[in-house]
Amino acid sequence: MEIIIKNSISEIGETIAKEIAHHINLNPKTILGLATGSSPVEVYQALIKLNKANVVSFKDVKSFNLDEYLGEVDFDKTYRFFMNEELFKHIDINLSNTHFPSIHLLDKYDEAIEEAGGIDIQLLGIGQNGHIAFNEPGTAFYSKTHVVTLAEKTRQDNSRFFESLDKVPTHAVTMGLSTIMKAKEIIMIVYGDNKVETLKTLMSTKEDEHFPASILVSHPNVKIFTTLDLYNRAIR
Ligand code: F6R
Repeated sequence: MEIIIKNSISEIGETIAKEIAHHINLNPKTILGLATGSSPVEVYQALIKLNKANVVSFKDVKSFNLDEYLGEVDFDKTYRFFMNEELFKHIDINLSNTHFPSIHLLDKYDEAIEEAGGIDIQLLGIGQNGHIAFNEPGTAFYSKTHVVTLAEKTRQDNSRFFESLDKVPTHAVTMGLSTIMKAKEIIMIVYGDNKVETLKTLMSTKEDEHFPASILVSHPNVKIFTTLDLYNRAIR
């Protein structure tokens, strides 16, 4: 795992967006694995700028998002809505090429990814408890796309996007850890004041199912982006 330190989250966003654009320019049919949450927002803003400046086109790109809530969720709280607002509606991607896991598409989601040729670049954030996508601590490393019960900590963290904690869904569908590990390249962003201990654990971890992100240790092509401030606090 290569750790890349930048001065700010906007610098992280610009660097990753340039790397993704470069990849798409070499292979216009790139398959992207995408994440929601606060960490990738600056990547999406930078990608929108590159697309509007005609530096990159998403016309033939396909995307597979990591996760989606389950149950009765207002559309404006779904991850589909988030992605439409933060990225898709501002770029020239074909919405029918953008995919989300659902209860009706569990095994089929992994199959669809494989049929598309596999994920070329997987973007990831990380939860405070080390979750990636919604793979909470204790998730089997061999897991494929599956239904999860969200950890209370995750529901509390995500309650900032809802009116109150009781409105946060209790279940979600997520790509599994083995699904994520099949991506050819993984780019993770560790960002946020609450991630000091998370980054510290990540930098010294061995594979351990209690810390899901530790699975990345055995992936051959992982870049972890973080800010200087967070890095300095993690190595103290
Ligand atoms: C989102 C996702 C989650 C987030 C993680 C960090 O699709 O899969 O694992 O990446 O919860 O969220 P933020 O970036 O909001 O701190």
